[in-house]
Amino acid sequence: MKFCSIAMLTLFALMGGAGCGGEDVSGRDVPTPSPVGGNEPTYYEDIAPLVNRECAGCHRVGGIGRFSLSDPTVAQQMAGAAAAATEARRMPPMPVSNDGTCNTYKNAHWLSDEEIDLFRRWSAAGAPLGDPAAAPPPPEDSTLKLTGELAQFDIGVDYTPQPHPGELDDYRCFMVDPGIHADTFITGYDIQPGESRVVHHVALFELADGEADAEAAALDAAEAGPGYTCFGGVGVGRVELLAIWVPGAGANAFPEGTGIRYAAGRKLVVQMHYNVPPVGGPFVDRSKIQLQLSGDAALTRGFYIDISVADISLPPGQQLVEVKSELALSAMHPSFADPAFKGLRVWGALPHMHYLGHTQRTVAKVDGVDVCFTDVDRWNFHWQNLWWYEAPLELKGADILSITCGFDTRSRTETTKYGEGSNDEMCFNLLYTTIR
Ligand code: HEC
Repeated sequence: MKFCSIAMLTLFALMGGAGCGGEDVSGRDVPTPSPVGGNEPTYYEDIAPLVNRECAGCHRVGGIGRFSLSDPTVAQQMAGAAAAATEARRMPPMPVSNDGTCNTYKNAHWLSDEEIDLFRRWSAAGAPLGDPAAAPPPPEDSTLKLTGELAQFDIGVDYTPQPHPGELDDYRCFMVDPGIHADTFITGYDIQPGESRVVHHVALFELADGEADAEAAALDAAEAGPGYTCFGGVGVGRVELLAIWVPGAGANAFPEGTGIRYAAGRKLVVQMHYNVPPVGGPFVDRSKIQLQLSGDAALTRGFYIDISVADISLPPGQQLVEVKSELALSAMHPSFADPAFKGLRVWGALPHMHYLGHTQRTVAKVDGVDVCFTDVDRWNFHWQNLWWYEAPLELKGADILSITCGFDTRSRTETTKYGEGSNDEMCFNLLYTTIR
C-alpha cells in the first residue's frame, strides 16, 4: 500500500507536521536505497544546497510550496517528483527562458542542466541522505531589504479567501490609500503575506485620478464582502501597473538610480492571488505592503512601455493558435518620434497572458536585425513576474517591436476573445524602461 502519498505529505506539511518520516512510514515510497558508492549524489552534500538556493523560498514549513524540501525526509519522499518537475523546468517556476538564447535575468530561478541531472541521479539512486555532517550551513537571508522612507499599509481587512467550489484560486482586489502626501518616486516594494500558505502573487496598480478611484469603489460596493473579484486586470479603465510580487524573492527594487513617479494622494488597487489548499486552514490573510520612496530629484524616471495584441479571437480546439502584432517605437509616444530622442534603455520585462497562453516571444528589429527581448516557452499564469535583465537592452525610435503569443485552445468549445476575465485572453509584454 502506498501509505505516504503526495496528498498525505501535503496534509502533514499543512498541519505543521514533520512530513511522512518516522519508523512506520518512511521508505515505503522510496526505492530501496543502494549503498552509497561514492559517486551518487546525496541529500546533505548535493541536494540541500540547491534546495536552499532554488526551492526553500517556497518549499519551507508554512510556505506557498505546500511541503518543505528543507526537511530531509520529505525531500526524500518527493525525490521522484522533484526530478520530474525540475526536468520539465516546471520547478523552480520560471516561464521565461533563461538559457542564454534570449537573455538572462538577475532574478532568475533557474537550474543548470548539471543541477537538473543531480536531482535525476539522486532520485535514481534511491534518494540517499548521506552524511549529515556534510549539510550546508542554513541559508543566509540574502534577500533585499528596503531602506529609507517607506509607505506601509495593508489590504485593509482580514480576508478569508473563498475560491468557488472545486477551485483553488481566488483573485481579489482591494482598493487602498497608501498615504503618500507628496509627489515622489517609488524605488522598491515588498509584500509581507499575512498568510504565506495562500498568498501566491500580488500585483499593485495605481489609480490615475478621482474618476478611476470612483470606478474601483463602485466595483467594491457592488460585491458582497471585502474587496471585489478581479482576474487579469482590476476592472478599471485608467489604471497603471506599478509592480508585481511573487513569494520567495524578498523585496524588489527598481534598477539603481531609477524609480516610478507617484503623484501625491493617488490610491492603489492591490490585486491578491490566493491559492487555497483543499485541506487545512483556516486561512485568514491581511497582507502588508511596503513601498520604498525617494524624493531624490536626480533619479531617472522609469516607466513601462506596452507591446500587445488587442485583437484576439481564438478558435476553439486548436493545439496552437498564434496572434502577433508589430509596432514601431516611434508610434508609441510622440516624443519617441522626435529626432532628438536618443532611445530607451530596457531593464526588465513582464510578460502576461491568461490560462490558455503557452508561448510568447518579443523581438525588436534593431537596424534591420532581430534582437530577442523575451522568450516564454512554457507560460504559466500562476508564475508571472517582472524579470530583470542581467544586461539591459536598448531601443531607438526607428526600431520595430513585435510580439507573438501562442495559445492552446483545446479546452474550449467557443471562440476566446480579448478581455480581463479568466475565460478571456490577453497577450502583452510590459518593458520597464528609462530614456537614454
Ligand atoms: C516561487 C515558489 C516556488 C519555488 C521557488 C519552487 N516551488 Fe515547487 N511548488 C510551488 C508551488 C506553489 C507548488 C504547488 C503547485 C503549483 O502551484 O504549481 C509547487 C509544487 C512542486 C512540486 C509538485 C508539483 C509538480 O509540479 O511536480 C514539486 C515536485 C516541486 N514543487 C519541486 C520544487 C523544487 C525541486 C524546487 C527547487 C528546485 C521548487 N519546487 C521551487 C512553489 C515553488
